[in-house]
Amino acid sequence: MNLHMLVFTRLETQSATTKVAHDLLTAAAVAEGHELTIISDFDCQMHFGNETSVFIRNTPAKDINVLFVRANLSGAKLQFRRTLIKQFELMGIPVVNREEAVMNAKNKLRNLQVLTEHNIPIPKTYVVSHAGYLDDALKDIGRFPIILKTPSGSQGKGVAIIESKRGLKSVIEMFDNGEPIVLQQYVKESSGKDIRVFVVGDRVIGAMKRETTRRGEFRSNFHLGGKVSVADLTKGPKGEKQLALNATRACGLDIAGVDILRTQDGPKVIEVNANPGLEGITQATGKNIAGEIIRFMVSKVPA
Ligand SMILES: Nc1ncnc2c1ncn2[C@@H]1O[C@H](COP(=O)(O)OP(=O)(O)O)[C@@H](O)[C@H]1O
Ligand SMILES: [Mg+2]
Repeated sequence: MNLHMLVFTRLETQSATTKVAHDLLTAAAVAEGHELTIISDFDCQMHFGNETSVFIRNTPAKDINVLFVRANLSGAKLQFRRTLIKQFELMGIPVVNREEAVMNAKNKLRNLQVLTEHNIPIPKTYVVSHAGYLDDALKDIGRFPIILKTPSGSQGKGVAIIESKRGLKSVIEMFDNGEPIVLQQYVKESSGKDIRVFVVGDRVIGAMKRETTRRGEFRSNFHLGGKVSVADLTKGPKGEKQLALNATRACGLDIAGVDILRTQDGPKVIEVNANPGLEGITQATGKNIAGEIIRFMVSKVPA
């Protein structure tokens, strides 16, 4: 079978992390007796006409049985990229992580909105655009430090800890352009550690603990040097597995990485990633995560 993967990086300049993921998926496809073709959005042209189509390097896209979208969408070219994903859907191709679901996860504001809409517990969160409107949010969130996030950061970049109101005001004013920011209650008891749950289809296929190895660091992201180890969810707080599945479903995602903080008030979701990394989870669990993804893709191909 000819499996395809749409990526939003140029293949010539992909990062080491991206390459690891691509290599794992390519090898898994081959092991399952399939071929995985990687398409970069850079090489795609869309044709709007009687017949919806996409051209790849000037050749009409055909024989795509299923498309896996690695949606590391940043703000750049957002409208083009989401339209492109949708275009593949309109061609009748099964798309794994559909456009709407990707959009529910891409941006932290929308993501948190969807989660609360579906009664998924999250830490207290406010979105503000102006330093003049901070007081009520701060009153409710409680004491400092608090967490500040930019709406579209990932891999821990764009997440900061702020120690005082004075610091917060100055940071907001630094953004100055009215760019909204996310203010969130700091979950002290889980500082420097969290749980990443990897969901494929309706199943949790692996989970890991992530813990920072740096002194004073509160972010546990793998790409910031977080140490990973397997997490046995049957031994953790009750309901974590279901929480991850519910969060994934709320966003409409097929494949997701759900970040959970173990708080005094039980597990809370901080975000759902539509494009979870493969390296850390594969290493931590020793499982063939890429193989699970490939088999799931194949299951989406109509008989
Ligand atoms: N409210 C919070 N309290 C404590 N730590 C947090 C909080 N939010 C995020 N963190 C830490 O920061 C990391 C990155 O935050 P996250 O919201 O997942 O953004 P990113 O998309 O950059 O991964 C988390 O993995 C967690 O370790
Ligand atoms: Mg995260």
